[in-house]
Amino acid sequence: MFKSYHKILLSAVVMAAVTSTVACAGDKSVSHTYANGKKVIDGGVTYPSVDGKRAAYHVNDKASNGGFTFGRVPTDNEVKAWNIDVMPDGEGLPEGKGTVEEGDELYEAKCSSCHSDFGTGGAGYPALQKGNAYEGQKSLTNQRTTPDSDGPIRVFGTYWPRASTLWWYIKTGMPHPAPMSLTNDEVYAIVAYIISINELKIDGEELDDEYELDRAKFLKLVMPNKDGFEPNIDGPKGPDNARAYFNDFKNYGNGTRCMKNCFDGKPVLARITGAGISDYQPPISEKKDLPAKTDVADAPGQKTYESTCAVCHGTDTMGAPMVGNKKAWDAVLKKGIDQVYENGIKGINGMPPKGGSTLDDAKFKEVVDYMIGASK
Ligand code: HEC
Ligand code: HEC
Repeated sequence: MFKSYHKILLSAVVMAAVTSTVACAGDKSVSHTYANGKKVIDGGVTYPSVDGKRAAYHVNDKASNGGFTFGRVPTDNEVKAWNIDVMPDGEGLPEGKGTVEEGDELYEAKCSSCHSDFGTGGAGYPALQKGNAYEGQKSLTNQRTTPDSDGPIRVFGTYWPRASTLWWYIKTGMPHPAPMSLTNDEVYAIVAYIISINELKIDGEELDDEYELDRAKFLKLVMPNKDGFEPNIDGPKGPDNARAYFNDFKNYGNGTRCMKNCFDGKPVLARITGAGISDYQPPISEKKDLPAKTDVADAPGQKTYESTCAVCHGTDTMGAPMVGNKKAWDAVLKKGIDQVYENGIKGINGMPPKGGSTLDDAKFKEVVDYMIGASK
C-alpha cells in the first residue's frame, strides 16, 4: 500500500517540479534554484514540438511562440532526484542525524509560518501534532460507523500507521515552497522535533531537547495506530485478506444490507406515468414559458399574508386552499367573493376567524385579495 501511495504522491511532486522549471526554461538545460542558492535538479531539456505535439502532448504553438510551454517529459536526472521511496522496514531511508533542538529551530524558520507554533496547524494547513489514538484502536471501523467519534484525529502522531511516511513526505514535499531543499540531517532534526511534540516515545524514551535522532533510532519508532488500518493488505496474503474483509459486510456499514425484496409491504413511491410524475399536488405545470411578470413583491396584503396566513395557506397539508393553487381557489370562489370574505372573517372549519388575527375587516379583505391574486 505504501509503495503505491508514495508513487502517486511522487507523480504529483514530479509534475509540480516540471511546471515550476518551465517558466524559466529556454531551449537549454534547466535547473531549479532554491532560496538557499542550491541547484537540485540538472540536465533538463525542453523538447521541440513535432507535428503539433511535444512528447505525447499536443502543443498550442501560438502560446509556445509567445514563450510559454507547459509540460514536458522529465529527464532521467530529474526522475532520479525525486524518485525516493522510504519504506517502513527502512528501505530507502538514508543515514543521518539531528537533535530535537535543531529541529525546533529549523521548524520555527521553515515550517511554523504555515503549520503554526508547535505544529498546531492553521487555516488550510494540517496540524502536525495532537491526538487521541490508543493502542489497538480500529481507526477505520470507528470512523466508518460513527464518524469522528472514536477514530483518531487525522494527524501524524495519531493516525499515520508508519513513521517512514513522515520522513519521506518532509524530504520530498516540504517546505511547501521549496521541496527537496532540506538535507538529510535537517530532515532527521525536524522529524525528531515532530516526534517530540507528538509525545511519542522511542524505546520507551521521551524525546527531550538534547535527544539526537538517527536512522537506527527512527526505525524503532512504533506508531500508536500501527494496527488501526484494516484489512491488512501487506505481504503475500494481502489480496486475500482484502477480499475476505470486503466480502463480509459486517465489517462496514451497520451490518445489514439489502439487495432484493427489501420492502415489507408496499413501497411508497410516486407513480411515474408517460406524462411524468402524477402524484404531485398541485400537479406539476406543463407550461414551458416563464410565469407572467407580476408586481406581487409590492402587493398590498402580502406582508400580512406571509406573517399571519402562510403558515396554513402556504401548503395544502392542512386542507387550507393553498396560495398559488389556482384550482383550489377557483373552487372556493364559486361561492362568490362576498361569501368567501364572510367565511374568512367568521371562520369556517379549520379556518379560525380572521385566521386568528386582529385585522380589521378591510385589512383582512386586502389579504384575501392578495391570496386570490397570487393564485391566478
Ligand atoms: C507555505 C506553507 C508551508 C510550509 C512553509 C510548510 N508546509 Fe507542510 N504543508 C503545507 C500544506 C499546504 C500541506 C498539505 C498538503 C496537502 O495536503 O496536499 C502540508 C503538509 C505537511 C505534512 C503532512 C501533514 C498531514 O497530516 O497530511 C507534513 C508532515 C508537513 N507539511 C511538514 C512540514 C514541515 C516539516 C515543514 C518545514 C520544513 C513544512 N511542512 C513547511 C504547507 C506548508
Ligand atoms: C391555522 C391555519 C389557518 C390560518 C392561520 C389561516 N387560515 Fe385561512 N383557512 C384555513 C383552512 C383550514 C381553510 C379551509 C377551511 C375549509 O373550507 O374547510 C381556510 C380557508 C380560508 C379562506 C377561504 C374561506 C372559504 O370561503 O372557503 C380564506 C379566504 C382564508 N382562509 C383566508 C385567510 C387569511 C386572510 C388568513 C390570514 C389573515 C388565514 N386564512 C389564516 C386555515 C388557516
